[in-house]
Order: sequence, then C-alpha cells, then structure tokens
Amino acid sequence: MATATLTPTNTRTSDPSKKTMRALYKHHAGEGLKFDPAREKPVPGPRDVLIKVSKVGICGTDRHIWEWDDWAAGRIPVGIVTGHEFVGVIEAVGNAVTRYKPGLRVSAEGHITAGVDYNSRTGNAHIASDTRILGIDRDGVFADYVIVPEENVWPVHPKIPDKVAAVLDPLGNAVHTVMAAGVSAKSVLITGTGIIGLMAVTVAKAAGAGRIFATDMNPARRELAKKLGATEVFDPRNSSWISDVKKSCRNEGVDVLLEMSGSTAAYDQGFSALRNGGTAALLGIPAKPPLFNITQHVVFKGATVLGINGRRMFETWYQMEELLLSGKLELDEIITHEFPLEEFEKAFKTMISGEGIKVVMSVNG
Ligand SMILES: NC(=O)c1ccc[n+]([C@@H]2O[C@H](COP(=O)([O-])OP(=O)(O)OC[C@H]3O[C@@H](n4cnc5c(N)ncnc54)[C@H](O)[C@@H]3O)[C@@H](O)[C@H]2O)c1
Ligand SMILES: [Zn+2]
Repeated sequence: MATATLTPTNTRTSDPSKKTMRALYKHHAGEGLKFDPAREKPVPGPRDVLIKVSKVGICGTDRHIWEWDDWAAGRIPVGIVTGHEFVGVIEAVGNAVTRYKPGLRVSAEGHITAGVDYNSRTGNAHIASDTRILGIDRDGVFADYVIVPEENVWPVHPKIPDKVAAVLDPLGNAVHTVMAAGVSAKSVLITGTGIIGLMAVTVAKAAGAGRIFATDMNPARRELAKKLGATEVFDPRNSSWISDVKKSCRNEGVDVLLEMSGSTAAYDQGFSALRNGGTAALLGIPAKPPLFNITQHVVFKGATVLGINGRRMFETWYQMEELLLSGKLELDEIITHEFPLEEFEKAFKTMISGEGIKVVMSVNG
C-alpha cells in the first residue's frame, strides 16, 4: 500500500443562492464520468432533506459504473449523478420534515424504500423489494447537493470526523456482516481484505473475535490486515493455507467465514476452511453465478449461510456509532487518499490501480 497522501482540502465551495451545482454524472454508455460545472440543483419535496455534500467515498460500485461493466450497463441509467457514500450538512428541508433542521451534519442510508413492503414492515427494510439506491437508481452524492428522504438521514455524532463519516456506508457493510455472523470468542476467517474486508478485521477485533485469519493476493493489504488485528494472513494462490488453518482449529476448521472478496475461488476456499456446523456470512458479490459445491459446502457441512445485503436499518448504524465512539476501530490506514472533486480522474485512477484503498473526495470542505 502506498503511504497515505492527503492532499489539501478543497477550498472551492458552492454558493447556496445559485440554482446550479457541480456534479459528476454518467454522460454516456461507456467508460468514465463527466464533470458538469452547472447541473440543475435539486429541490427537496415536502418530506425530503437537501444536503450540501462535504466529503464522499469512492466505492467498488462506483468503479463498476466508471468502467461500465455488464452489471453497470444493465442497471445504471445514463445521465445519473453517481456516488452514495457521503457526509454533508443539511441546507434546507421540505415543509413536512419534522425531525431535522438546516445546519445539522449528517450522512444517510443510501437504500431508500417506501416502507410499505413485507420486509420494511417487519424490521428488515435493508432487503425491501422496492429498494432504490442513491447514485444507482436516483441521483447520488458526487455533487454539491443531494436529496434524501427524512427517514434516511443519519445525524453524525460530533466526535466522528468527516473523513470517517464519509465512509459509514461501507463500514456499515462490515459491521452488518460481523454482527450477523456473531464472532465473539470464535475463530474467524475473512476471505478478501479489500476495503470492507480490512474494515471487518478491525470490527471483528473490536467485537471480541478470537483468532482472525485472512486471505488476499495483495501483500500490502495482507500486511495491513495483520496490523489491524488479523492473527495470520495468507496468499490464497497457495491453497495449503486451508489445511494449516484447519489444523490449528482442532483439525476441523474455523467457526465463522466472512466472505468479502466476491471471488468464486475464495468462496470455495472459505467454505473448505469452515468447520462442520460453522456460520458463513456472505457479502462478496461474484461477477458471474459461482460454480459451487453446495452438497459438500453447505448440506453435509450443516453450515448456516447468511446473505448480507447493505446495512440493517438502523440497527447497524447504532452499532457502528457505538463501535466508533469506543475508539476501538482503526480506520486511518484504510482511508488512504483524499482529492478535491475536480480531480476525480486522479481519484478513480488511484482507486482502480490498487494504489489506494479507500479514496475520499472533498466536495465542500
Ligand atoms: N452485499 C453487499 O451489500 C455489498 C456491499 C458492498 C460491497 N459488496 C461486495 O463485497 C466485496 C468486497 O467489496 P470491497 O469494496 O471491499 O472490494 P475490494 O475490491 O476493495 O476488495 C476485494 C478484495 O478481495 C481480494 N481478492 C480477490 N480475489 C481473492 C481471492 N481469491 N481470495 C482472497 N482475496 C481475494 C482483492 O485482492 C481485494 O483486496 C465485493 O464483491 C463487493 O461487490 C457487497
Ligand atoms: Zn459503497
């Protein structure tokens, strides 16, 4: 990993009286994003909040949109403002908004639901069938302003700095996965120590995991995983690590698998290292449906398999805040770079090349 390079904070800010704003949008069905210096500023509806964006995080999803892979081509409407990880300050609220006022520093849950389907009404809104996502289905946060419904707003605790508040979305993915699996006093294997996998290492440690094993091809990421609390790290290309880990876990395997790579090979290796009766929490999204031995890995193993989608609303957000305030999470070395919005090409290049891990852009501050 490159040493952290924090460029000076962007000094250009937006003028609230202006009817236009700066924005990065998907300008064509192909690679890249375009900077629009004068996109129409959105107007909040009665139950919406208008937020002036301070900082944003670049997610793997934004990379897919940038590269315009098959998933992006099938899902992303051309013309949309992208981005969903952010922190900002409320600038205006619709006339039916009751809880929030201008001036409050906030982030928001980017999965927006109408709150009326089965799962929304039974405490599982994170898997609602009518979910619409910021920066994917509606205009996102790579802009001076974004609009979200009041219900999705998350006031940010004053002790949480903007740089961290900008990445609550992926941190929430890590917290949701770790909490769903239940890691306390258990041996844990994390396959893939990218952005979310590294966050999961520090979260699992804070949540009282026993030994934490981790795999990744990238030596710098393995090294950082170790620094953040992984007991042992392995290069997955040499599969002998599986028998080593099993041996050290009573010859049976790890109690918990957290899949955070999206690689089919890692799915296979992870389940091979899981003990019979273990729990697998699966966050990684394989590019194609994986060829997977369900008989061996799930049925005979008696494994508990948890699909992890987004963040629980809003249980994960409360857990995340508590973990952050405990001072136990180490995120500084995961958030490696910061660029002004105008330098988005450099920011994406840093992320895509693997030189940076979590790359943040400053929009207004
Ligand atoms: N389910 C959800 O709600 C949700 C949300 C966000 C991201 N995701 C998915 O989670 C995964 C992780 O996201 P991220 O942002 O941390 O991505 P990332 O690209 O930063 O991390 C992936 C890591 O996996 C490593 N890797 C690749 N093949 C591997 C293998 N065979 N064994 C071990 N490691 C391997 C890579 O080197 C990389 O470091 C992705 O698949 C992403 O699409 C899911
Ligand atoms: Zn994200």
